[in-house]
Amino acid sequence: MIVTANAHIGFNCKDLDRTQKFYEDVLDCREKFSLYYGDLIPEEHPERWAQMKPEEVERLKKLKDVRWIVYLEWPGDKDRFIELFNEVDAHVDNPYRPEHYGYTHFSFVVDDIQAFHRQLIERGAGEYIDIKPGPSLDGNWTMWFHDPEGIRIEVHQYGPESYQIYGRKDR
Ligand SMILES: [Fe+2]
Repeated sequence: MIVTANAHIGFNCKDLDRTQKFYEDVLDCREKFSLYYGDLIPEEHPERWAQMKPEEVERLKKLKDVRWIVYLEWPGDKDRFIELFNEVDAHVDNPYRPEHYGYTHFSFVVDDIQAFHRQLIERGAGEYIDIKPGPSLDGNWTMWFHDPEGIRIEVHQYGPESYQIYGRKDR
């Protein structure tokens, strides 16, 4: 299994616009696509809708057009990204807690995520798997695991409509 390290690294931001501007103005990064809090409302997936608390749905509806994630690409490397999370809850509804901000995870790409998942188990790392492979909002297959230190690792198998490859067509 060939792992492409590193596909992206993720940070939680107190001020998404300011942080995005920093990476764009200072390091020449450019936005590839954004996800919105409204994307988390599972309109087309009633089974997931049923699992969400009504107050969570209401909260997401209020934030529908607020950006949740921005993907920035490096000027000299179109295959690697910085993933900035807008921690809108943290700075609107909750008191400031430094542990909410900064580094959250890194991510790499594999060509066959099911095979990668099996390989983790075969190599005795099954206990480190947090979320099994499944479809993700950005047009990919995604799974999560962590290392013995608790460092979170996201794994993508890019799909035929991957936002990371083709950008986002619908907004
Ligand atoms: Fe990520």
